[in-house]
Amino acid sequence: MKTKTQYTCQSCGYSSAKWLGKCPECGSWNAFVEEKITSSKDSSISAVRENFKISGLSQPSFIRLDDESHSQAGIKHRQSTGSLELDRVLGGGMVRDGFVLIGGDPGIGKSTLLLQVAQGLTQHSHISKVLYVSGEESIEQIQSRAKRLAIKNADKILLAAETQFEKVLGLVKELKPELLIMDSLQTFSTGFIESAPGTVSQVREVTSRLMNLAKSAGLAVWLVGHVTKDGAIAGPKIVEHLVDTVLYFEGDSGQTMRLLRTVKNRFGNTNELGVFEMTSEGLVDVANPSALFLSERKEQAMGTAIVSTLEGSRPLLVELQALTVPSPYATPRRTAVGLDSQRLAILTAVLEKHVGASLVNQDLFFNVAGGLKLTEPACDLAAMAAIYSAIRERPISSSLVFLGEVGLTGEVRKVTQIEVRIEEAKKLGFSEVILPAAQLERAKKIKGVTLIPIHHVNEISNLV
Ligand code: TYD
Ligand code: MG
Repeated sequence: MKTKTQYTCQSCGYSSAKWLGKCPECGSWNAFVEEKITSSKDSSISAVRENFKISGLSQPSFIRLDDESHSQAGIKHRQSTGSLELDRVLGGGMVRDGFVLIGGDPGIGKSTLLLQVAQGLTQHSHISKVLYVSGEESIEQIQSRAKRLAIKNADKILLAAETQFEKVLGLVKELKPELLIMDSLQTFSTGFIESAPGTVSQVREVTSRLMNLAKSAGLAVWLVGHVTKDGAIAGPKIVEHLVDTVLYFEGDSGQTMRLLRTVKNRFGNTNELGVFEMTSEGLVDVANPSALFLSERKEQAMGTAIVSTLEGSRPLLVELQALTVPSPYATPRRTAVGLDSQRLAILTAVLEKHVGASLVNQDLFFNVAGGLKLTEPACDLAAMAAIYSAIRERPISSSLVFLGEVGLTGEVRKVTQIEVRIEEAKKLGFSEVILPAAQLERAKKIKGVTLIPIHHVNEISNLV
């Protein structure tokens, strides 16, 4: 076996034969770390052999495009995790040999979720053996968490505290679990590379070996990934390309609400959202998140407007809040939480130009209640209504919901899936919906709510 030395950029994974001060790929400084690689040709061949041994395969195989036997067993057959929220995020349950990567801040609840996944799958699906490998915590720590969570079917869940990837492989061969949980990616290392755990090449190598294992042995793998301070999974982007499903676990550690978001999914929609609450007995599904998002709402408050937004396939009612105060600065501040600040700048410009609501000498603070991040243009009208209400100090009726995208000329444009949004608003007791005039006919099918069409954003002053 040949060993070669290379220098790898720890921020993007670019490698070079020489040490470089600045990465030519991503421009980071001092990011190159020396890594020793054992001849990759050899190692990948032996990895393939290992995998063949596990699955009992002897030669590469192929099937016809119209052969249904594989998809029947694989993608079509979903395993329920016992949590409706999680099942939806996965695209309808777990796929037998799916490889799921889950990222999130420390302390957000990743290890808790995975223990609950192990329990859920053994209870609600045909999974009879789970191997939970932790490179971070001791067996005692995991056991004490499991006690706290009152995990059932504990006899079907095997624990190992291990960081050496080859040893994990050995355990998999010996125990033949149907589900392998690895917590977390940055703590494992393979002997094929001589660099420290968590470095770019280790992370990449461990992930690709796990992927081989999942597909050749028909094993489901859940892998925890740490995130960087910008919120992306630490390591090269290729890690996310390799796996089937990427989930991000978000939430404010000061609050109990946790959001699980699908960023990539080979077996379902992206942008799906699962909502959980962290309780003293672990994570609990929140079946009606709109109620939770609106729970602290004040009746008829100044500077707030409600929108029915879509997160993946799910409608959510969210409160948007705006506050304006006289600014002590020559250039007033514009601060947005939960909304892109560029978008906010556009909306305030349109408001000033077309509605005549002046923000001169006013600081503007904008917030999406509940910690949700909105990316949908369908929230434009509601955001503008909230800002307008704040400027004019006129409260908005608490029975109103706003829907509409706003263009630069102030025209109110259509939103996607308007019926779903209105149905959700109706379910939560809102009686009036302000909607793009062009969608009035379509929305009329829904009875029991008053529909108020709007053509141009300047009509807002009559409505607020
Ligand atoms: P953990 O799953 O260890 O987070 P991660 O693996 O993402 O780092 O959970 C961290 C927090 O969750 C911890 O601060 C305690 C809290 N927690 C609860 O509130 N209830 C529970 O039942 C459990 C197990 C943890
Ligand atoms: Mg953890």
